[in-house]
Amino acid sequence: MKSDEYTKKHWEEVYTGKSDEEVSWFEGKPSTSLDIIASLDLPKDSSIIDIGGGNSNLISHLLKNDYNNLSILDISENALQRTKSKLGKSAAKVQWINSDILNFEPTQDFELWHDRATFHFFTREEDILKYIDILGRSLKTGAYFILATFSTTGPKRCSGLEITQYSPEKLKELFKVDFTLLESFEKIHKTPFKTEQNFIYNLFQKK
Ligand SMILES: C[S@@+](CC[C@H](N)C(=O)[O-])C[C@H]1O[C@@H](n2cnc3c(N)ncnc32)[C@H](O)[C@@H]1O
Repeated sequence: MKSDEYTKKHWEEVYTGKSDEEVSWFEGKPSTSLDIIASLDLPKDSSIIDIGGGNSNLISHLLKNDYNNLSILDISENALQRTKSKLGKSAAKVQWINSDILNFEPTQDFELWHDRATFHFFTREEDILKYIDILGRSLKTGAYFILATFSTTGPKRCSGLEITQYSPEKLKELFKVDFTLLESFEKIHKTPFKTEQNFIYNLFQKK
């Protein structure tokens, strides 16, 4: 099986077999991301994409906050279906993209790209560089990129898969050609089963 087929199969099974409360990354309200987004004071029609949005309630909260140009991308159709069902009629206001991010061919520029706990699943240099290339081609100058990954004191695996841990210095270096790192801070995520995961949240701006 090719590695992207394996990745898709893995995530489809996760979202078939487990409820929101049974996956470590789930947050009832993604407050840290929402606070960063609010601080940007973006116009409500800004194009915003959530990469690996999965079963996150981010889009639901952004809709409640009147953002009206929202896209969610995930490799798992089951994840997108679950999030669509949670949104009900509001789902029609969102653009749903079922794709591996590494195969994503954006047809529009985005003003905000949000990724919590997806980028860190890439462990091969060629995949990391491909992601950075797609990201760079998808954002306008001045656009924002919010990236939350496990920190160097965080878990080494997630959902049974290896991840790459990051420090702010490593991320600054990785994205330095196209992006300025504006802010970086640690945040402990309390999982639905009361364990802790150390994340770093990073706000970048496209040069
Ligand atoms: C740990 S979950 C995080 C979900 C969500 N961002 C959150 O914070 O609740 C990782 C998500 O990334 C998706 N994913 C993993 N690899 C992907 C890839 N190569 N392309 C697109 N989505 C991917 C998974 O299906 C899953 O929904």
